[in-house]
Amino acid sequence: MRILVINGPNLNMLGKRNKEHYGTDSLAAIEQKLTEKGRALGCELVFFQSNHEGAIIDFIQQKTSGADGILINPGALTHYGYSLHDALADSGLPVVEVHLSDIQAREEWRKISVISDVVIKQISGLKTKSYLVGLEALAEHIRSRKKK
Ligand code: DQA
Repeated sequence: MRILVINGPNLNMLGKRNKEHYGTDSLAAIEQKLTEKGRALGCELVFFQSNHEGAIIDFIQQKTSGADGILINPGALTHYGYSLHDALADSGLPVVEVHLSDIQAREEWRKISVISDVVIKQISGLKTKSYLVGLEALAEHIRSRKKK
């Protein structure tokens, strides 16, 4: 199974951002841990990060065919990225949304995820582990759907 792993704006700076919210891992370290977890789960992962909403949408449109699911941390696009919402919906793929920090325990504006109605699950507040738990949940969902 092939999974697109997408990170939005500012997540290329992980390791240097607020460590209390986001932990100490760089994006490369998170991707390495995901690769190992993916191997154990039988998933091929395709990584993409951009600071630009349009570039993320281009990536989703180009890679949808041939992919089985999307694991995404949209960064701040979570809270206002309506065209990202539509691209995820249009892909028809199962999507799991992850956040390093607990977005429900921060500023009011972070509590709203505009993509929440197009995802099968949101995992938040576990730092790097959010991605690993998210990948497991997505792989399980895809596997159970393939059996049907
Ligand atoms: C984030 C939370 C967002 O509110 C923030 O803009 C980010 C990262 C997280 O992983 O906790 O850049 O998605």
